[in-house]
Amino acid sequence: MHSISQYQDFFINYLENQTIDKEPKNLYEPISYILRLGGKRMRPILTLMSAEVFNTDFQKALPAAMAVEVFHNFSLVHDDIMDDAPLRRGNVTVHEKWNINTGILSGDAMLILAYQYFEQYEPVIFRDLAKLFSKTALEVCEGQQWDVDFETRTDVTIPEYLKMIEYKTAVLVAAAMKMGAIVAETSEENANLIYEFGLNLGLAFQLQDDYLDAFGNPETFGKQVGGDIIENKKTFLFLKAKEHAEANDKAELLHLFASQLEDNTAKIEQAKEIFMRSGADKITQEAIEEYTLKAFETLTKINIENDKKEILRSFGENLMKRKA
Ligand code: IPE
Ligand code: IPE
Ligand code: MG
Ligand code: MG
Ligand code: MG
Repeated sequence: MHSISQYQDFFINYLENQTIDKEPKNLYEPISYILRLGGKRMRPILTLMSAEVFNTDFQKALPAAMAVEVFHNFSLVHDDIMDDAPLRRGNVTVHEKWNINTGILSGDAMLILAYQYFEQYEPVIFRDLAKLFSKTALEVCEGQQWDVDFETRTDVTIPEYLKMIEYKTAVLVAAAMKMGAIVAETSEENANLIYEFGLNLGLAFQLQDDYLDAFGNPETFGKQVGGDIIENKKTFLFLKAKEHAEANDKAELLHLFASQLEDNTAKIEQAKEIFMRSGADKITQEAIEEYTLKAFETLTKINIENDKKEILRSFGENLMKRKA
């Protein structure tokens, strides 16, 4: 096994050696732009780590890791159109740098490119990877549609929210890990356990994403702080504030989240104050920890050496401390 930062370096090195820029430029430049903007590279790192956890050289998992990262970046390009987001990884979003049509088509091409990376595997592994990928990609679309549907609903429940984030975010983190297991040809049981580990880590990850969207530092977050509030997203923070706020604050919150404004400065400030006064910020932090601990519980059931479990555990712990 290697350290987390070594896996990140291995992946970035592989990515830099891919030829992405081709003609027509307006199709491929945005792809190269978003892929090279950086980001944490969490999902590909997890694929590489998972392969090695199950005793297979990370090199064999590089194309699968690349497929996951390309798919993730495709989903970000389309997500930023859907969320009307101006900033991504501290830079201007693809649809704002080019235009919406470019974002749509370059995104579509990335989805195909992601699939192509599986062609590097022998038939049995190819089939298992493609099958998992198709199922996951469809679930991500379902999660994204719920996320958008919830913007105009005021009666979203916590179970509905949890299903939505499981689909839009957690299943891809889980699949990234299972892909490592598939490449390593480990047992079905191990593959399913690592999927469950990734799923709970993914839930914690999206809860943290919601938290940072409101309370992150604009200097380091890389995205527009308050973007979810502007878009009336029914995040965990919102749902818990609605549940726990005093009557006045609750009425104010519902009023704020039914508005579409030109200037959102006051809306963001007021929403954040209600998130804090109601204790929703703390409840969210607790939920992040709860799902991370749930992931660690799954780890104990996987049939691997303890030092490997420790590396996966420290990955989860680092994730909880992230600022972007
Ligand atoms: C952002 O994912 C989209 C979510 C599912 C929250 P990341 O936070 O992993 O984005 P990058 O790749 O590090 O920029
Ligand atoms: C993103 O959720 C999920 C996918 C991209 C599939 P968000 O909309 O919360 O992600 P960010 O905050 O824009 O990165
Ligand atoms: Mg978004
Ligand atoms: Mg979104
Ligand atoms: Mg978000």
